[in-house]
Amino acid sequence: MSPALPDGDTVPGGGPLDGWTADYDRQRGFSVYVHVPFCKVRCGYCDFNTYTATELGGGASQAAYAQTAALEIDLAARQLDQAAVPSRAVQSVFFGGGTPTMLPATDLAVILSRVQQAWSLEAGAEVTTEANPDSVDQRYLETLATAGFTRISFGMQSAVPHVLTTLERTHDPARIPQVVEWAKQAGLAVSLDLIYGTPGESLDDWRRSVDVALSTRVDHISAYALVVEDGTKLATQVRRGMVEMPNADDQADKYELADQAFSEAGLHWYEISNWAREIDGKPAACQHNLAYWRGDDWWGIGPGAHSYLAAGYFEDEAAHAVGIDNEVTSTTTQAHGVRWWNVKHPRSYAAKLESAASPAAGREFLTQEQATLERVMLGIRLSEGMTISDLPDPNPAVIAGFVARGLIDGRAALTGTLKLTLRGRLLADALITELMGL
Ligand SMILES: C[S@@+](CC[C@H](N)C(=O)[O-])C[C@H]1O[C@@H](n2cnc3c(N)ncnc32)[C@H](O)[C@@H]1O
Ligand code: SF4
Repeated sequence: MSPALPDGDTVPGGGPLDGWTADYDRQRGFSVYVHVPFCKVRCGYCDFNTYTATELGGGASQAAYAQTAALEIDLAARQLDQAAVPSRAVQSVFFGGGTPTMLPATDLAVILSRVQQAWSLEAGAEVTTEANPDSVDQRYLETLATAGFTRISFGMQSAVPHVLTTLERTHDPARIPQVVEWAKQAGLAVSLDLIYGTPGESLDDWRRSVDVALSTRVDHISAYALVVEDGTKLATQVRRGMVEMPNADDQADKYELADQAFSEAGLHWYEISNWAREIDGKPAACQHNLAYWRGDDWWGIGPGAHSYLAAGYFEDEAAHAVGIDNEVTSTTTQAHGVRWWNVKHPRSYAAKLESAASPAAGREFLTQEQATLERVMLGIRLSEGMTISDLPDPNPAVIAGFVARGLIDGRAALTGTLKLTLRGRLLADALITELMGL
């Protein structure tokens, strides 16, 4: 969650779905995200909506968080009913942060069981939590598995001490193989997060991180290029010349190195930053992230969390002068999705829910153009690619140009699918800009 929330419209007193009626001719999946906004220390590169104990100050207790989140889950279930959204079992739950594992495992279990009570979980639903390697032990992981968690994603970032120091990560890299083993023994699927392009990281340093990650034989790895986010300590260090700005060519070399090593080890890309092993003929992809990329519905619980529902109508109230009186009339407008976001600070979030008010701060209805742009921006990142005729304006000359420049697969294009090549993955943002005429 980035620090600034979008502008949008103020959410009415009745909550984010006030005036909204769902249109569910097409059945679609429903997922739940739970944001846990606490960290032991703030890493210098991170701008997620998270707070250390000192930053939190009084009035928003970490100990009470599970109960506060449970209030929003109950409210969400009521609001979806009121908006005539058909009740669906949840296909995936993802606890992210922040560091969800700052909470006792039993608190995460309380939140998960409240999700189950509110909507029930689909058979085989994926339930993931993010975790810092130094915030869990064997018992913690067993408690999660017993409570119904199926998957854990550890923030490994690097195996090299000087890189971890630059990132201000506090965990001991030697702990990674240990926590992965404990998680597997508990029956959890395991993913590792890596970051490449940290100032001072050599190509050999990166190769070492990739090798150590692969040596744990996990089935899923995410690798992200380090982004210098405005307002972070890292951004200040770069501005003052204390560390160098990450270099795009260096990051491209590191992406290529990782893609080759992961593929050779049997983990294949299914999204630009994500690689998974095939198990029983299916990639061990993160189902929750796939739900975002496919445009399914989700409710985000927690401070600063975003939510999204596709397809519906909203009542647009307008005051019209009729004779000498003002009369309120309303029109019904079709929208191609509604998105809303909660207040950012855990204190305001708790205060809203304790007074039985919705914690939603702003919302926006999506036009057809916005919805299409988002679908293309997300869909193009997937290895399965996109059907060219589904693009808003599939200009054959532009598509042929992408093939000629080696950005998309020529054979797939001939059969009507736009699939990125390795070069296309490296230049995906520029390709989307050109494709959508932005
Ligand atoms: C919320 S954190 C994961 C959970 C846990 N707090 C941790 O850091 O281990 C999600 C992931 O976002 C990635 N991330 C955060 N800030 C980033 C940045 N500025 N550039 C690239 N990746 C970033 C990191 O890989 C991190 O593992
Ligand atoms: S531990 Fe994770 S969420 Fe917390 S500050 Fe570091 S990267 Fe951000």
